[in-house]
Amino acid sequence: MSGQNWTYGNYLQLEELLSLQGDERGISSDEMHFIIVHQTFELWFKQIIRELSEVRNLLSQEQVPEKDIPKAVEHLGRTTEIFKLMGAQWTVMETLTPQGFLSFRDGLGSASGFESFQMRKFEILLGLKNEDRLFGMDPIDTFRKLAGNSDNDAAILSDLEQMASNPSLEESLMKWISRTPIMGSIYASENDVESVQNYVNSHLAAHKSMGELAAERMSGYGVSDIEKAKARFNSAHESAISFLMPEGKLSRARASLLFIESYRELPLLAWPRKLIDAVAELEESMVKWRHSHARMVERIMGRRIGTGGTSGVDYLDKTSQYRVFKDLWAVRTILVKSDSRPDLINPSFYGFNSDNVS
Ligand code: HEM
Repeated sequence: MSGQNWTYGNYLQLEELLSLQGDERGISSDEMHFIIVHQTFELWFKQIIRELSEVRNLLSQEQVPEKDIPKAVEHLGRTTEIFKLMGAQWTVMETLTPQGFLSFRDGLGSASGFESFQMRKFEILLGLKNEDRLFGMDPIDTFRKLAGNSDNDAAILSDLEQMASNPSLEESLMKWISRTPIMGSIYASENDVESVQNYVNSHLAAHKSMGELAAERMSGYGVSDIEKAKARFNSAHESAISFLMPEGKLSRARASLLFIESYRELPLLAWPRKLIDAVAELEESMVKWRHSHARMVERIMGRRIGTGGTSGVDYLDKTSQYRVFKDLWAVRTILVKSDSRPDLINPSFYGFNSDNVS
């Protein structure tokens, strides 16, 4: 309420907040610590969902105003810092000894982080696909089973279903990236497909000769099985082709990504590049966070089965292989050295005065 003179405690609703740790059950300090660490994470998850929703909403506009890109980068930056903080927070959890954990673990029943609906919500919001999850599992299934338990469980289910029916951050980002002018050619303009195809072809030619040169160098070094190395370079080149032209059809989004990564120094590409870097940094921080969770779990409970019924550490290690922004990572594999890039056409369009950008 505006004009209200808050006290610190009222503003933060501390009375309620501090009554939610189960003191009335007479829990040990180990268990209180276990609960507080979880609750802290869940509070951060809430903020993460908020930040990432803002980014998704900004990027899914039909026309994204330029002034919105720095805002998206700021929201992503904050989210990354939260993940880094949460990644460091596992060390607090690790002060729980294996015996200390066993003393209250049975009381958890089947409760597990696996049922964290906020975690599922931000994974869906980011765009983690079911087919990329272990066993192709649909994370919403867990909540379909729980939905009958209470109105709150039913609301959680509908919240997750709603999130899944909206465009994800990854889709919105790639859609936005696909509209990048490539070699001065404007998205959907006349001859755009032809210009982009020409760019992709010249990049692929540069990529091929880079592989051939590398193979030649290797044979100069006396690498024993040069034919094997050549086959590897050929297969890397085939992968580059199918990345840029999946099923033979040019992907403008991936060509745009390649263009932005290849000509990073161009002033007009500064914000797109920052945005892409911010997303890559976010995903990296999330992967590290997942990885450290697995290490903490290994230390506290070894390789036992989880309370959620998964294989435990093995399951968690596999989740740290998940990648949402696969194209952002894949494009790095097919870049060529600056001086091998196709010559930039229309440099002044990108705010660059010289026609030699290498
Ligand atoms: C002693 C501390 C902890 C242990 C031993 C532990 C163990 C596990 C295990 C074994 C799993 C796999 C699912 C299962 O079978 O249960 C899991 C999943 C999970 N845990 Fe923990 N955990 C601990 C602390 C935490 C904390 C503090 C959080 C913070 C919210 C957390 C969040 C999660 C999440 C979100 C998942 C689901 C991961 C996924 O499916 O991708 N865990 N945990």
